[in-house]
This record gives sequence, C-alpha cells and structure tokens, in this order.
Amino acid sequence: METKGALDALLHEERVFRPLPQLVIEANVNPQEYAEAMKLASEDYLKYWEEAAKELDWFKKWDQVLDDSDAPFYKWFVGAKCNIVYNALDRHIETANKNKLALIWEGEPGDTKKLTYYELYRAVNRLANALKTLGVQKGDRVVLYMPPLPEIVIAMLAVAKIGAVHSMVFAGFSAKALRDRITDAEAKIVITADGFYRNGKVVNLKKVVDEALVDGCDSVDTVIVVHRASVETEMVDMRDVWYEDLVRQERPVCPTEVMDSEDMLFLLYSSGTTGKPKGIVHTHGGYMVGVHRSLKWVFDIKPTDIFWCTADAGWITGHSYVVYGPLMVGTTTVMYEGHPLYPQADRLWDIVERYGITIFYTAPTLIRMLMRFGSQYPKKHDLSTLRLLGSVGEPINPEAWVWFYTNVGRSECPIMDTWWQTETGSFMISPLPITLLKPGSATKPLPGIEADVVDDDGNPVPPGKGGLLVIKKPWPSMLRTLYKNPERYKKTYWEKFPGMYLAGDVARKDEDGYFWIQGRSDDVLNIAGHRIGTAELESALVAHEAVAEAAVIGVPDKIKGEVAKAFVILNAGYEVTDPDKLITELKSHVRSELGPVAVIKSIEFKDKLPKTRSGKIMRRILRAQELGKEIGDTSTLED
Ligand code: WTA
Repeated sequence: METKGALDALLHEERVFRPLPQLVIEANVNPQEYAEAMKLASEDYLKYWEEAAKELDWFKKWDQVLDDSDAPFYKWFVGAKCNIVYNALDRHIETANKNKLALIWEGEPGDTKKLTYYELYRAVNRLANALKTLGVQKGDRVVLYMPPLPEIVIAMLAVAKIGAVHSMVFAGFSAKALRDRITDAEAKIVITADGFYRNGKVVNLKKVVDEALVDGCDSVDTVIVVHRASVETEMVDMRDVWYEDLVRQERPVCPTEVMDSEDMLFLLYSSGTTGKPKGIVHTHGGYMVGVHRSLKWVFDIKPTDIFWCTADAGWITGHSYVVYGPLMVGTTTVMYEGHPLYPQADRLWDIVERYGITIFYTAPTLIRMLMRFGSQYPKKHDLSTLRLLGSVGEPINPEAWVWFYTNVGRSECPIMDTWWQTETGSFMISPLPITLLKPGSATKPLPGIEADVVDDDGNPVPPGKGGLLVIKKPWPSMLRTLYKNPERYKKTYWEKFPGMYLAGDVARKDEDGYFWIQGRSDDVLNIAGHRIGTAELESALVAHEAVAEAAVIGVPDKIKGEVAKAFVILNAGYEVTDPDKLITELKSHVRSELGPVAVIKSIEFKDKLPKTRSGKIMRRILRAQELGKEIGDTSTLED
C-alpha cells in the first residue's frame, strides 16, 4: 500500500468558519431537519432514500427499495418505472417553471443563448424524434464528443428521453481515445460540432472525429454535426449530417420512453489503474434520486437561484451538476464555452456579475490559477449576488480555500467542498450550508451515506490516523457495474474489503468526525481535477519507437495539484542525437495519443526502473526519490 508517504502531508488545519445566522434560518434543511434526517438514515437508511425518491415523479412506484441479493450488483427501486428526463424537463412544462430560464449559455466570443424550460423541451423533442428517425432504439449507445454548447444538453436529454444510452467523451480527448471509447460502447451515432472557441482560437473538432472513424468503428452509421464555428468541415457522404438539417423537419413533441428504474442511462469512461479506461454505468432511477437530493440539500436550491457549475459536461460533474441536477430541481443552469482567462483573468467574475449568479461551483485548480492574478480581478466586479460557493475534484488547500472565501465570497458565502467520484454519481461527503466548515475538509458524509477510514485489514482507524476511504452501505446513485466487465467491477471496488466499496482515496478523520481527503491511493493521477491513469500515460509513451519502458508518477504542482513526470528507458540501439528534442517529441506524442488532457510535465531518461520481483514497476520508489522522501519498505524490490 502506498498510503504512508501521502499521509505525512495531511493537512493540519485548525481554523473553523461558521455560517451566517441568516443563511442557517433560510436553508432548505435547517439544523433540526438535518438532525432528523441523520437519525432516520442511521436507523433505516432505506426509508431515508425512499423519502428522497418520493420527491421525484415515477410512472410506477417501486416494489422494493433495494435488492442486495446479488451484491455487489445492487438494484435500487426495483420494479419502478421512470425516466430522468421526465423529471428534468417534462414535469416542468406543467408548472410555472415552463417559462423560466433553464439554460444560460455564453460563448467565448461573447455571444449568448438562453433557453426556457419550454424551449429546451421542444429542442430536445425534435432531436429525440430525429434520433428515432435515424433508427436509434432503446438501449442503443450514442457517443457525444462535444464542446460546451447548448446542444450538448439537448443531446444528452434527447438520447435519454428515447431510452438510449449516452456516452460522453470530453472534447479534450484525442482521436485514438475517442475511437477506443466508440468501439467499446459499439455506438451507433456520434454527435459532435464542427469546432468551438477556446482561448481566442478555433478548435477543429470534427477533424478529430474523422480521424477516429478512419478505420474500425463499424458500428457508427451517422455523425451529427452541430454548426458552431467557421472551420473547414468535410462532410462524409451518407454518414455525416448537419444538426440543423436533421432537426428542421422534426416535430417538437415526443413521448418520453418508460424505463425500468435499473435501465442504463449513461456510460462514462474514467481512468483506472490499467491502460484501459473503465466504462462506468449509471441507471435512471437511483442516479436521479441521488443527484436530485444532493443538489437540493447541499446547494440549497431556491426558485430564484442562478446556478453555475464550471465543469465541462463531458465529466461526471457536468452530467450531475450542470445538466441533470439543476434541471431536475428546476433551477437555471449556466454554461460557458471558453477559457477562464479569455480575454483576461476576470472573465468568470464578469459572468457572475452580468447574470447575477447566486451559486458558483468550481475546482481548486481553477481557483489556484485565478489566485495567481491577485484580488484585483474579483474586485473589479459586483459579486454580491453570490450566496454559496463550491469546490470539487481534488483536495482544496486551505490557502486557496481562504482566498476563494475572502475574495470571491466576501467572507460570507460558505464553501461546499464536495467529495465524490464518477462512480458515486452524486455528492457523498459534503457540508450543507448550515455546517461549520474547516478549510480543506469535505466535512461529513451526507445522510444515507456511511463512509469510514480503514486500515489495510478493513478495520476503522482511530481519529487522526490515515487510511483508506470506504463506503459501507450501497447508495442509490452508485455505479452498477463496469460496461461489459462485471469482473473488473467486483475486483476494483469490492474485493479488497467484502461488503465495502473501496473508493481508491487516502483519507483521515479528525476528532470531530470530519473527513480530510488526501488523494488517490492507487496509480491514478489527479491532474487539475482530471483523473488519468499512470498506465495510460505509460502505454502511450511505450507506443513511441524510441521507448522501451516507461514509468509515470505524480509530483505536486502549485496550480494543477499534481502533474505527471515520466521515467523512460530508451530502446537499445535507438540513437539520441538531441535529448531535448526527443523529450519534446515524446511529450507531443503522448498528447496526440491521449489528447490535451494528458500532459507530461517532465521526462527523465533512465537505464533501469525499480521493480518488484514479479516485474511490477514500483512507482512508489520513484516518487520517494523524486520528492526526496524516505523510500520505505523495499523487501519486494527485485534486487
Ligand atoms: C478526487 C469528480 C478531495 C478524489 C467528482 C476522487 C476529491 C476523484 C474531491 C474522483 C474533494 C473529488 N476533495 N478529493 N472534494 N472531489 N476528489 O471521478 O481523489 O473525476 O477519488 O469525479 O477526485 O474524480 P472523478
């Protein structure tokens, strides 16, 4: 286990921040209600979740809340019929929300689009009908490779509405990564855009799709292209169709497919400890309950809120808290296409001011990046509409927390530091607005969630000691399996401690029961809040003709939290004339294999890598050497 070194760095933060009395009075969940929820959840957690489920609309109620007879393949709300899109869209059309703004979108050049719930509903219906016309049926997979455009929301909802399964691939992934995901999902349709604006430039996205589809991917018969940017776009005959042409003739009414609670809603690939990404499977019923309840409680959504989560819809945070969550609770969700520093470091604050954003949810890496530019940028804007802030994706260092709290939140807006994962679907450990906060701690598990920190044998560790983060009871929005790989699902999450979900994070609990998440315990890096497996980076390196072997480790970084460093053994006989040139070439090779998300910060050439006797690379040793730390146990080292 590699937890020991990481634990030395655990925070020793002692400051506490109390919410303002007004906030506590007005909160959706006041301290007494919270205490009651905790009591109910600890006495009868199924009852707690059943109550949460009742806040949503179902075509038919469940016969059983949880079926654990085939654990860890848990089933929630068994026998129920529903569709998340009914809750995100259809039901609002019958209420005062009909003419409320569902989505405010801003492009990088400054253009905007606003859609009411009714307008979004009509747009979704037209695309849903078009997909049916193209032959998409219940259960079929549709890959979305799209930038942050209103159509990404429309596409997700349209796919789910007709009972198909969306699989989003973040637009920063390479053609190869896209191809692998399309192939694994056996997608019938790919929805993309011609291009988009990022940092003053136009990114040609369609080109990447063409490259991905150049060989293989036989399952794909149609590529739908949203027109966004003026880029040369080649349309392949009989395969490619412009979004606008496709939906023009379609009717704006479309029935919502009646789904089984356990039917698959989406597939989202996430990095694991092997080179092959895991296809994480979420279903309609449980996911909607977890996301709805968590957003409503943690971000305390009120009818007048304007909610901005800066995540890309291509990640789980975007799925749950840009699209499904905000729409289910009937709030207005905000999306921004471009770079946070474009045209200068106050773009985000400018957006907050102009739309009167009330809740702002972002990532520590972004806060640290903006912090570098000092407080003059937030000061230039009226941020007084903000009432709650949020953080997700990695541990937030107290320095960034306090900067965010003071300069963006006027020392009045509590920060909801939400710990969760692609696998968990929704928040697991998080404060509510009424919670006493300690900067750097995600505070406590939400009602209905039983989290703990255990040692290598699965026994709870005493307060202050580090260990592995586990979840001791199933929860509705949990992943159901790994796509086409139930064995890997069991092995990855449930094998180490039977009956407990292994999160893969190192954490510590303090005397007050507050959780302090330290980072990953496995070979997964967290670069600027994005998960990337060392194995993926290594196999990309090895795919280069110069490289015989590679080992990648994470090293701390001031802005990105962590960056990748690679140790490389070159192929015998490979002539290096210019090492610097080779390093540059290797870096760009990895980028073209995996996409711009996969940045290798530095590369070092080596003659030998430390390995176990069974031949596994001991990255722990490389990391200790790199950081000048104690090397620790070397009994398994080869020689
Ligand atoms: C990390 C993102 C500390 C953690 C929602 C987890 C965090 C991984 C926090 C999941 C937080 C996420 N504090 N660490 N508030 N939130 N993490 O699947 O290591 O992209 O396992 O989901 O991010 O990343 P994923």
